[in-house]
Amino acid sequence: MNKAKVYIKSFGCQMNKLDSNLVANAFLEAGFESAESATEADAVLVNTCSVRKHAEERVFSLLGHMKHLKQSRPATVVAVFGCMAQRLSSELKAHEAVNIVCGPGQIPKLVDMVRDAMDKHHISVAVAEDIRSRVTDENARALDDFEFTYDSANNNSASQAYVRIMRGCNNFCSYCIVPYVRGPEVSRRPGAVVEQIKKLADTGVKHVILLGQTVNSYRYETSAGSVGLAELLEMVSEIDGIEWISFVTGHPKDFDEKIFRAMASLPKVCPYLHMPAQSGSDRILKAMNRGYSCAEYLELVHKAKEIVPSIAVAGDFIVGFPGETDADFAATVELVKRAEYKNCFIFKYSPRPGTRSEGKMADDVSAEVKKQRNIELLAVQEQISRRMNESFAGQRVRVLVEGLSKKAHLNRAENNDCPQLIARAATDHIVVFNGPAELAGQFAEVKITKTSALTLFGQL
Ligand code: SAH
Ligand code: SF4
Ligand code: F3S
Repeated sequence: MNKAKVYIKSFGCQMNKLDSNLVANAFLEAGFESAESATEADAVLVNTCSVRKHAEERVFSLLGHMKHLKQSRPATVVAVFGCMAQRLSSELKAHEAVNIVCGPGQIPKLVDMVRDAMDKHHISVAVAEDIRSRVTDENARALDDFEFTYDSANNNSASQAYVRIMRGCNNFCSYCIVPYVRGPEVSRRPGAVVEQIKKLADTGVKHVILLGQTVNSYRYETSAGSVGLAELLEMVSEIDGIEWISFVTGHPKDFDEKIFRAMASLPKVCPYLHMPAQSGSDRILKAMNRGYSCAEYLELVHKAKEIVPSIAVAGDFIVGFPGETDADFAATVELVKRAEYKNCFIFKYSPRPGTRSEGKMADDVSAEVKKQRNIELLAVQEQISRRMNESFAGQRVRVLVEGLSKKAHLNRAENNDCPQLIARAATDHIVVFNGPAELAGQFAEVKITKTSALTLFGQL
């Protein structure tokens, strides 16, 4: 008998990538085969994101295609899972193309739900009834077991893996949907995290990326005392085979020096800090419910750079938050200049139903102004990235090779016998160089010969 084929399309952040990888592995283990495209799949699984309206629109557009596809292949099972499944369960359930709606906390059930739908062609929904209610021990255990059983390699490279250290978020930044779709914050048991990473190290993983919505608020009480992120980093550092440890994303209000000191003293911990600021205006930061001022944020960045001199900092910003004036935006530009980020992710404010800013504040910055501010901030950051990257010229950097570069034709280097490879430095900088394809998944040392705003180019 032919194996049933499954195709997974993933939207959203690293949390979702991790979930998609776990789900993919669970389906393979259950006897499914992966399909190259939705058109040849028996089951199409869509992992969804609700963080901005645009992310949801892309899913609805994909579901439109699925509806069309089901006209010729009516037996195809379509499952929508992830954050949007939690937020819009009824609407999705009513969608013509959809058979299954499954929240991010119910993914251990997906295989059974899909099998069931294949047999009986009925519609099923599994989402949290009350997403902010306390996570039951049973539910937490099911997720932990699922996570432990199926691992999550990073799609970029077999020697990198994502490891969740906490779920959910309790911060309620006024613009953000995440606490309403991912539920309350729960830190995983340190022993479980360590066991998981040991298992990954045995399969050849060298770089683990610890994930959480606010990783630095990680805390687990044990009989021997309280374990925070700094202690967890120490524990993970002891694991043989693991050479690099990074963590994302950090929240400015929860950083203490202890974490920076751990970064400085543990050689395996990568000198990379993703610490979103969101705005440089104190008035806007307050309206966002971020819990810090611009001056406090800058002080933290300077402290991090002082304690970990080689550190690279990345930031997130939202432009066009309700009430953001030219002066507020100018403060954001000023912050970007002073923080000297390696790179920034910049988003246009998108009101999310049910969040505090959506309920209380009018989305009063026009689309045009949001776009202008986005372009301007990107340009400011690009100059900074370009200037900062120049200091890498002539230096030797240790990199972990991800694989063949997709843009090989754009940047021909001197050594044309070998293909162009793409790699990352411990600071998360992208490094491109020519070398043997077998280096994928290995560490290499590269001398930087040329730099741009986004990329360092070098020679093996
Ligand atoms: N937990 C992470 C962020 C998760 S969402 C943290 O707190 O840092 C990723 C980014 O999306 C956020 O940092 C923010 O910049 C952006 N974002 C979140 N909600 C948004 C919204 N409603 N509109 C525009 N951007 C948003
Ligand atoms: Fe959203 Fe704020 Fe939580 Fe990040 S910390 S996930 S921005 S509520
Ligand atoms: Fe991530 Fe989007 Fe959910 S950013 S946590 S997939 S809403």
